[in-house]
Parts: sequence; C-alpha cells; structure tokens
Amino acid sequence: MKFFIDTADVNEIKKAHAMGLVDGVTTNPSLVAKTGRPFEEIIKEIVTIVDGPISAEATSTDTEGMLKEARHLSSIHENIVVKIPLTAEGLQAVTTLHKENIKTNVTLCFSPNQALLAAKAGATYISPFVGRLDDVAHVGMDLIEQILNIYENYEFDTQVLVASIRNPIHVNEAALMGAHVATIPYKVMLQLVKHPLTDVGIQKFLDDWKKVPK
Ligand code: E4P
Repeated sequence: MKFFIDTADVNEIKKAHAMGLVDGVTTNPSLVAKTGRPFEEIIKEIVTIVDGPISAEATSTDTEGMLKEARHLSSIHENIVVKIPLTAEGLQAVTTLHKENIKTNVTLCFSPNQALLAAKAGATYISPFVGRLDDVAHVGMDLIEQILNIYENYEFDTQVLVASIRNPIHVNEAALMGAHVATIPYKVMLQLVKHPLTDVGIQKFLDDWKKVPK
C-alpha cells in the first residue's frame, strides 16, 4: 500500500519523507489555509521534496473553471494530480482531463455509486472519506471494501485512495483490504510507529547493557 501524507505543512512532509514514509502528498483548501502560506508557493516547494503524486485541489465549482485550474496546476510539475470534487460538473471535468492525460483525484466521495461514476469518467484516484463517515455513524471502512469489490469486478484502473484517515485502525484495515493508497496525517504516522512494548524493550536492553563488563 502506498503512503501519501495528508498535509500542506512542508516541515511535516520533510520529517515523514526522511522516515521513508512518503510516496506522495495530498492537500486540500483547509490544509493549505492552516499554513498561512500562498497555495502555489507550497505546491512548488512540495514537488522539490517528494518525487511522487502531489494532489492539488481545484476550487471552482463549474466545469470550465475546474478545467482552467487543472490545466494550470498540472503545468507546474508533471507529478501534480488535480483534485476534483465529486459533482456532475466535476465528473465532466474529469472526463475531459482524462482525454488530455491530466491525472485526477476525485475527492469528497461518500458512496460506492459515486466511486463507480468517478472510475467511469477516468479518474486516476478516488478519495472516499472514511473519518467523516465514521463521524456521522456510518462505518467508513465498509465503503472502502465495497469500492474495492466494484473496481475489481470491472477491472477499473482507478486507484482507491483512503482519505480522512483519523487513526491507526483505519490504516490497518485499509492495508488488510488491499487499498492502493492511504493518505495519512503526520500525527497518525507517528502513532503507527509507536508501540509501548518497543519502548519497554529498549529500556530493558539499555538497563541490562549497563551490567555488561566494559
Ligand atoms: C483527502 O485528501 C483529504 O485531504 C483529507 O483526508 C480529509 O480529511 P479530514 O476529514 O480529516 O479533513
């Protein structure tokens, strides 16, 4: 399973990248706003850090606007993947961008049928938001399982990018289900590293090492 980091904070990207945990990056308008920096400045810096797919989101709501933004964003660097919301206008944009060989990440997916439509339009990635479904008492990971089954039934090339990950269990279940990508916040990456028995084990070895005659 590929690991993308879900952040627009370049310091987090650098730290996770140094641990070998970053195959790509996803950003969204809220994550960009948190940094207090201009969007394109951040994207141009990220492409110098990570050599992998970098998702940058279009903020237009009409097809023409999305296409204009997508063509501009994808011209910044070959690794840019344009995030397009799962709307009728978005699907129309994805259909055109697919013909132009511009990679897309269809975002804000909350149902298996929406994922089916994105694949038919030629999306490179589909982003089902598992945490936000959990928040409204739907099991987010059930959606991942259904999308994976549907895509396998019809051999779609669209990759399932598990988004809105909130905890290590989401990552574990995504890997067990065979999801193509998980986009993970830096905080959750650090939670994945940690195990109390690792810390206890290190302390015991260090204590015993002191008893070894020098
Ligand atoms: C995905 O690409 C989104 O940026 C992200 O995963 C949304 O997560 P949230 O629901 O925690 O905001």
